[in-house]
Order: sequence, then structure tokens, then C-alpha cells
Amino acid sequence: MFFNEEKKRILVIAASGGIGLAISKKLIEQNHILFLTTRSIHSDPGEHLKSISENKAELFELDLTNETDISVLFESIKTKTSWLDLIINCSGLLYDETLQPEKRIEDLEYKKLQRNFMINSIAPVMIAKFSLPLFRHDQLNIFANISARVGSISDNRLGGWYSYRMSKAAQNMATKTLSIELKRRRPNTIVVGLHPGTVDTRLSKPFQGNVKKQHLKTADEAANNLLNVISNLSLEHTGKVFAWDGQEIQP
Ligand SMILES: NC(=O)c1ccc[n+]([C@@H]2O[C@H](COP(=O)([O-])OP(=O)(O)OC[C@H]3O[C@@H](n4cnc5c(N)ncnc54)[C@H](OP(=O)(O)O)[C@@H]3O)[C@@H](O)[C@H]2O)c1
Repeated sequence: MFFNEEKKRILVIAASGGIGLAISKKLIEQNHILFLTTRSIHSDPGEHLKSISENKAELFELDLTNETDISVLFESIKTKTSWLDLIINCSGLLYDETLQPEKRIEDLEYKKLQRNFMINSIAPVMIAKFSLPLFRHDQLNIFANISARVGSISDNRLGGWYSYRMSKAAQNMATKTLSIELKRRRPNTIVVGLHPGTVDTRLSKPFQGNVKKQHLKTADEAANNLLNVISNLSLEHTGKVFAWDGQEIQP
């Protein structure tokens, strides 16, 4: 089991989002050594994260659209620890004020596609690039990106949501590609994608209409499920995507 008696050194990216916050709260309760990021400490979610993590975690600002920000984050973390046991990237973008998931091909726009790819596919690999020196050769390390079942090509039955689907599929490809490289360069590192299920957060709010109540999870349930999946990972799982219940999702 990854989570045992030992305190782990853990970085949670987007720790003030719905699932990121729920995971961070659990890890704070378990007294791990924590490094948490939020896009802005002065936003409402950032302030909330600050209030619950005071004296219990190191808090950093990180805008994932900015490569320098990612590099600076890891330089700062390196002044505080020489390794990380686990990175959980809880960031993700589906919609915002100016971006809606596309229903049909005519809805596609260059800039909107690029924004989805920036957060859902490019940021995860840039996080991996800068975090590599913090993964140890001789100990188990885990790099987990929160993915989504809709990134599975074989599972795509409904169509639509082009940029979200495409960018999560690209993230899953990055997970697989990185896992192959790290088998050679960091043979004790597991790289996975994790699908949390449909979770009651800001990201899913406008799309919960057709979701049966029993299928909608709270962020707290999702955090328990995902930490349980992480705890049961072993090296043979690297490169794969797993759902909240531990089932593998086919590419
Ligand atoms: N909720 C679901 O039903 C569901 C289902 C499948 C997969 N997922 C995946 O689960 C993950 C977590 O989503 P969630 O449900 O917790 O949604 P959420 O509450 O909207 O969290 C998304 C997080 O990503 C952060 N983020 C977005 N753009 C960023 C940027 N440029 N720089 C830094 N941070 C940025 C957000 O920060 P701000 O708060 O500053 O915007 C927020 O913390 C995502 O990868 C999502 O795709 C969710």
C-alpha cells in the first residue's frame, strides 16, 4: 500500500478546486508533508485553501498557462525538499465565462481549443518535466493526473465536447508516453490518469441535469475513492488510466 504509516511528501496541483480541495483536506488530516497550489491566493477558493492549510502545508500560487510559473514552483519546492513521493494534478478545464463544450463541429474555434489543450494536455506534461528531479530512483513515486472517462476513444458513444475529449485523450497519451520513458529513467515511478466519476463540483454543475442522483458523487467521496486507487497502485499499473473504483479505462 502506498499510504502506510509513513508521512509522504505530496504536491497537489489545483488544491483549491472541487476535487483538489477535498483531496487536500484528507491529506492534511493524515498529517502528510504537503505542498499545495492555487491559481490565486486572493481568489475565494484560494482564501479558503489558505484558511484550512495554515501551518499545515506550504501554499504556492501557480497559473498553469505560464511555463515560468511551473518552473518557479519546482525551484521553490526544491528549496524545501529534495524529493516528492506523490504529485496529484487536480487541474482541469471544461468551460468558463467564454468557453462552452462544443455540441457540433461548427462550434469549434482555434483559441478555445488551444485553451482546453493548454490546461488539460500541455500543463500536465510541463509539470512532469519540471518535477522529474524530485522523483527518486530507489523509492516508489507516483505522478497522477485527474483525467476523465470522456478522454477514452473506445468509450466515445455520444460525440460532442470536442476540445475536452480531445485534450483529455492527449493527456492520456502523455501519461502513457511518460510512463515508457520513466521505466528507463525513474524505474520506481508510476504515472497514471484517474477518472473521478461524475462529481458535484463547479466543473460539472451545468451538466448534472441528466445524471441520476445515485451516480453523482460528492467531492469528499471522490477524494476517498481516488486516494484509495492511488494507495493500491503498483509498478505494473504505470501508463494506464483508472476509474474511481479501480477499474482500468481502455484508451
Ligand atoms: N467534476 C467532475 O464530474 C469530473 C468528471 C471527470 C473528470 N473531472 C476532472 O477532475 C479534475 C478536477 O475537476 P473539478 O471537478 O475539481 O473541477 P474544478 O472545481 O473546476 O477544479 C478545476 C481546477 O483547475 C484549476 N485551473 C483551471 N485553469 C487553471 C490555470 N490556468 N491555472 C491553475 N489552475 C487552473 C482551477 O483553478 P481556479 O479555481 O483558479 O479556476 C480549479 O482549481 C479535472 O481534471 C476534471 O477534468 C471532473
